[in-house]
Amino acid sequence: MKLNIKNSKISDFETNLLCVPVYEQKDNNDLSYLNTALDGLIEELINNKQISSKQGSFTNIYTLNKINAKQIITYGMGNKTDLDYEKIRKITGSLSRYINNMNVKKASIIIPGENNNKLKFNETADAVALGFLIGSYKYDKYKTKKSPNSLQELTLLNTSGQNISHDLSDIINESESINLVRDLINEPPNYMHPGTLEEISTKVASKGPIEMSVLNVKEMEILGMEVILGVGKGSTHDPKMIILNYQGDKSDPDNNIAIIGKGITFDSGGLNLKPGNSMRTMKTDMSGSAVVLGVMNAVAHQKPKKNIMGILAIAENMPGGSAQRPGDVVKAMNGKTIEIDNTDAEGRLVLSDALSYAVDKGINKIIDIATLTGAISVALGNEYTGLFGNDQNFLDEFKKSAAETGEKFWELPVDQNYSSQYKNSIADIQNSGGRDAGSITGAMIIGEFAGDTSWIHLDIASTITSPKDKGYNPKGPTAISVRTILNLLKN
Ligand code: BES
Ligand code: MG
Ligand code: ZN
Repeated sequence: MKLNIKNSKISDFETNLLCVPVYEQKDNNDLSYLNTALDGLIEELINNKQISSKQGSFTNIYTLNKINAKQIITYGMGNKTDLDYEKIRKITGSLSRYINNMNVKKASIIIPGENNNKLKFNETADAVALGFLIGSYKYDKYKTKKSPNSLQELTLLNTSGQNISHDLSDIINESESINLVRDLINEPPNYMHPGTLEEISTKVASKGPIEMSVLNVKEMEILGMEVILGVGKGSTHDPKMIILNYQGDKSDPDNNIAIIGKGITFDSGGLNLKPGNSMRTMKTDMSGSAVVLGVMNAVAHQKPKKNIMGILAIAENMPGGSAQRPGDVVKAMNGKTIEIDNTDAEGRLVLSDALSYAVDKGINKIIDIATLTGAISVALGNEYTGLFGNDQNFLDEFKKSAAETGEKFWELPVDQNYSSQYKNSIADIQNSGGRDAGSITGAMIIGEFAGDTSWIHLDIASTITSPKDKGYNPKGPTAISVRTILNLLKN
């Protein structure tokens, strides 16, 4: 979809479809103009409750050539003073699907927020653009009959009277990065192998000043990464670790951060095989790695002043004849030994070697992103993403970034008293802490490999997919945490 911004009075603007915001408040210049031009129709429709200011309420009006816009859709925005960018993203996200269902090729939308001093023009325009670009996401790669979106061009109309210009290229790139994450997660697991993630990584790295290196089995053996190798043993597709290095602040090597993603291209559970229902969605178990690729795709374009190491810890968790067994003992790159208690707790395993690698490279801050536990959906459902860490300052920084983007995270405790649950008599630790506080012990097992390095863990298992169309998330993969991580890297 093509996007552009125009400054124009509504009366002068020619369009076949114009979306107009409606607020609880009656002082609305655009609506007043339309009401007069349409001989009081708007007021009548409001009085008859045909037009509502309720958020997410849309009404079609035909203007019978009385004005330059052939058709109008009013979109409810609620209370004008309560508006924020996240609400704008959500409403325009729903609106984008509504318009595509109408089979329109070109449309325009009045940028909301008239007379609201809290909202800045650039950010408001970005919110509308992102809402439309990610709200109308569709995945039809494997459909023989495609039904592409009808909407090909959207004009953002600034009716404020001020002459404003704004470059939308950053927000377009950010939206494309989010939709890339969604594409990768949607890809069927018979096509999404470790090698597929390597191909995509090569493409992402080529878009900017990003150096890529790949650790295959041999290299991982030399580095002593027995743990990720163990997870990959039951599959015919070898595991890999992919490292994407971006140096945005060469003068200050300490200004660095690693973004590490769980990349299980399919999680059958291994020998601790999952029941059918639980296995059904396990192609999404590489979502953490997809998020890293989305972030790096945006980093390549936006070039923040920070040294960023993206790491993808990739394996397929399968129960083949040479699969690892419960009871096996493996040693991580940092020397710690782990007894395999359950082969289905494989995310923390692949991440242990990835975190060891980052720490070994002198990284000062780590964020890992993983579809780690089913237990997180019991704790938080699909509203909030689980947030864990070992450094309150870093956690607070992250939460501040999240508050700015509207993505919702909830901090859960990391308390050493829980560590007794994964103590082990054979090795240093085991890879599972049992049922109680499953998301916490899972996080803490990963944390064992961060050591003293500042570390944050995001358990995205229940928020990486949306169970239904909702705001800017169509049913399916959401790409949660991409915007918050990007915002953190930029500031
Ligand atoms: N990939 C799963 C977690 C998961 C569950 C993600 C549901 C998305 C939806 C993970 O590898 C796993 O199997 N975790 C186990 C851990 C247990 C064996 C300690 C779980 O949650 O049951
Ligand atoms: Mg598993
Ligand atoms: Zn898994």
